[in-house]
Amino acid sequence: MDAPYQAGPDVHVLPTNLPLPGLGVLPINAYVLLAEEPVLIDTGIGPDVDDFVDALSSVVDPQALRWVWLTHDDADHTGAIRRVFELAPHARLVTHGFSALRMSSWWPVPFERVHAIRVGDRLPVGDRTLRAVAPPLYDNPMSTGLLDEATGSLFSVDSFGALLPEATEDAGEVPHEALAGGMRAWATADSPWAHLLDRRRFAQVLDGMHRLQPSRIFSSHLPAASGTSLERFLQVLESVPDAEPAVAPNHEEFAQMLAAMTAAQPQPRPVAAM
Ligand SMILES: [Fe+2]
Ligand SMILES: [Fe+2]
Repeated sequence: MDAPYQAGPDVHVLPTNLPLPGLGVLPINAYVLLAEEPVLIDTGIGPDVDDFVDALSSVVDPQALRWVWLTHDDADHTGAIRRVFELAPHARLVTHGFSALRMSSWWPVPFERVHAIRVGDRLPVGDRTLRAVAPPLYDNPMSTGLLDEATGSLFSVDSFGALLPEATEDAGEVPHEALAGGMRAWATADSPWAHLLDRRRFAQVLDGMHRLQPSRIFSSHLPAASGTSLERFLQVLESVPDAEPAVAPNHEEFAQMLAAMTAAQPQPRPVAAM
């Protein structure tokens, strides 16, 4: 877990930057939206649940949370969900109904606290309304993003994610070619079905994103980005169906990745001889 950072007057990022040797760094973000009724968007990757709770508590008292918007039930989004629901007794779980049902296979989901949503629904959170939107690319059919209708902040789930050369807090700092290549690499790996797309219909989906006119873009797998980046991002996504398909590491490559990840871990201090 990395240090939280503020990405706007009302949005705080709770990031983990996961190093993937040979590939780069993958950001994994949860967000706190400081609406009148505070909203936590996703709950980190785990397994360091205490770290996540510390990061969350540095931004908002979990007791004050009213909503936890879970974009989908993938493991990199549900890390601390059980603990968060223990610490946030006033929070309700906003998610796709089937995400809630599927999570009940590993967590006794408090269904009485679930507020099921689908694309197009609106959720009032005190001083503003959040609209559920469909991300253009996704790795889980329950994926549900949101647009803050008051500020134009778009939370785009896995869409617009990118493998980056290094961790940063501002997508605008990443050189264009590196960002475009990293976004394409992520998109082909995370949404391999994109190669099957009808280009004309996909263009309509991207046009729908364009019409949202977000002021800021908060992807689960990209540092915070300004709305002016949207056109560039949409151009990258448009190229994904014809990009080189992602290839999984074979056993030898995976073993090399693991060795590099282990070598990068901090070594335990030697124990003094008795
Ligand atoms: Fe996902
Ligand atoms: Fe994800």
